[in-house]
Amino acid sequence: MEMAEKQLNITYQEFSFPEEMSVRDQELVKAALEAREGSYSPYSHFQVGAALLLANGVVVRGANQENVAYPSGLCAERTAMFWAGANYPDVPFDTLAIAGWDHGVLCESPASPCGACRQVMAEYQKKQKSPLKIILVGSKRIRKFACVDDLLPFIFDSLKISVI
Ligand code: THU
Repeated sequence: MEMAEKQLNITYQEFSFPEEMSVRDQELVKAALEAREGSYSPYSHFQVGAALLLANGVVVRGANQENVAYPSGLCAERTAMFWAGANYPDVPFDTLAIAGWDHGVLCESPASPCGACRQVMAEYQKKQKSPLKIILVGSKRIRKFACVDDLLPFIFDSLKISVI
C-alpha cells in the first residue's frame, strides 16, 4: 500500500470576553478563577484553578498542590477530577474550566493542560461515554473544546492492540 499523507482538523471556539459565553459557562469560568485561592505553589509561583461542572449541577473546585519533592505535587485539573471521581463515582463530568496565573498574573493566552491531565480527562470521558467539554481561560482569550479528543488526538484509551 502507498504512503498516505493525512491531516487532522481540530475545532474549538475562541471568545474574547466571558460575556460571549453561556451564563452556565460564565459561572464556571468564575469558579475556576476563584479556585486559584486553593493553590499551593511556593516552588513554581504558577497558580492554577480548575472548576469541574458535574452532570448533577455540582461544581467541584481544584487547585495545584506542590511539594518539595517536585513529582509528588499534582495539577489543579487532576485534584478536581480525582476528588469528583472519588466522591461522585457515578456522576458524569460535563465541563472542566481551567485558569493559570504566572507570578500572580492571569496568563493572557490560556494555560493549557499537561499531557498527564489530558490522559486523565480522556479516561473519565471514556468511562462516562459522553463528551467532557473543556474551557481554557486567559485574560485575552478563552478557548472552549467540545471534547477531550480535540485536546488530545490519538488518545491512548485501550489496552487492546489496534489493527487500524
Ligand atoms: N499546573 C497545573 O496545575 N495545571 C496545568 O495545566 C499546568 C501546570 C501546575 C503544576 C505546577 O504546580 C505548576 O502548575 C507549574 O507547572
